[in-house]
Amino acid sequence: PHVVTKPCYDCKYTDCCVVCPVECFYQDESMLYIDPTDCIDCEACVPECPVEAIYGSDNVPGDWQEFVQLNADRTAALKKGNDAHITEKQDPKEGPSCSKS
Ligand code: F3S
Repeated sequence: PHVVTKPCYDCKYTDCCVVCPVECFYQDESMLYIDPTDCIDCEACVPECPVEAIYGSDNVPGDWQEFVQLNADRTAALKKGNDAHITEKQDPKEGPSCSKS
């Protein structure tokens, strides 16, 4: 599957989730995550992200390896609620830790 990594943190541009054919993105206050059980590796989201936060799980830069497990853990938890699923663009967060703000 593909995973959302650190550059998304505090940015949340949400361009990624709009193009996902299997609607596998979930969000919390900090960032978005991809459900690895639903992702079909189409790569449609990869070029959409303005901060290049999305990678194939076999291709994640070394410093961000922890995000592979984090995407799995967070989506599993977030799916138990009913307001974390995201399929449409929302205003970016662009908080103080966003790498592009
Ligand atoms: Fe995050 Fe990039 Fe999507 S900043 S919300 S992974 S478009």
